[in-house]
Amino acid sequence: MKSVYWSCRLRESRYALTTHSKIWLGLLALVILAAVGAGGWVGYRMFSTGFSAKEEPGALEIMMARQVRHLAIPLSQRNAVNPIPASPAILKEGLQHFADHCAACHANDGSGKTAIGQGVYPKAPDLRLEATQSLSDGEIFFVIHNGIRFTGMPAWGKGKPEEDQDSWKLVHVIRHLPKLTAEELEEMQGYNPKTQRERDEEQAFERFLGGEDVAPPAPAHHH
Ligand code: HEC
Repeated sequence: MKSVYWSCRLRESRYALTTHSKIWLGLLALVILAAVGAGGWVGYRMFSTGFSAKEEPGALEIMMARQVRHLAIPLSQRNAVNPIPASPAILKEGLQHFADHCAACHANDGSGKTAIGQGVYPKAPDLRLEATQSLSDGEIFFVIHNGIRFTGMPAWGKGKPEEDQDSWKLVHVIRHLPKLTAEELEEMQGYNPKTQRERDEEQAFERFLGGEDVAPPAPAHHH
């Protein structure tokens, strides 16, 4: 009898919860549970892969990261028009610049198939594919000028965006990557950065081919 008395007292009490607030509390508990669950899952994934950069981010993570980046780029920048008109000379200059500064990760053809490009997390994407080509010119410029935080993609723009002509020239290069010719690819190779050893090897080979009495150098050990 006593317990019935107390439960009645409680229901009458002005501290008792209304049905409305019970629903809210229930929802709050669900949200907290979901957050803890999601955090736990991310933590588990991170620790079980030992923070390896070899993993691929999940499809949902890629979609969310790209959407957040899209929204983070101011509308005026997204809609910006390339102030540098495309011309064969500009493209040539841009391709040389790309071979020199970008190909270490993105490869001359933009495939991203290089030791560094495949070793960073997330991997360097194939710039010829729809995911990149569907970005606006302004977005591509923004990415090159500002880089992408928490990834291997560095910021290349020095000074103010309106003074950064080089990144706009590289936008023409990104657009051209899907239709790169064999001759252009070969020319780009001449602009890829070389180590002193590679230069020495080349010189030794030339002297050897020129009939001088030097042994061709043994190939260096590569990782
Ligand atoms: C150290 C390696 C590295 C170098 C050098 C580098 N990038 Fe990147 N770049 C990346 C990585 C990694 C990503 C992917 C980042 C991500 O997933 O958000 C990327 C992304 C991009 C993207 C965005 C593609 C997309 O679909 O989102 C563009 C455009 C780009 N790079 C252009 C360039 C240009 C132009 C240069 C040279 C001036 C360059 N990158 C140099 C590593 C590099």
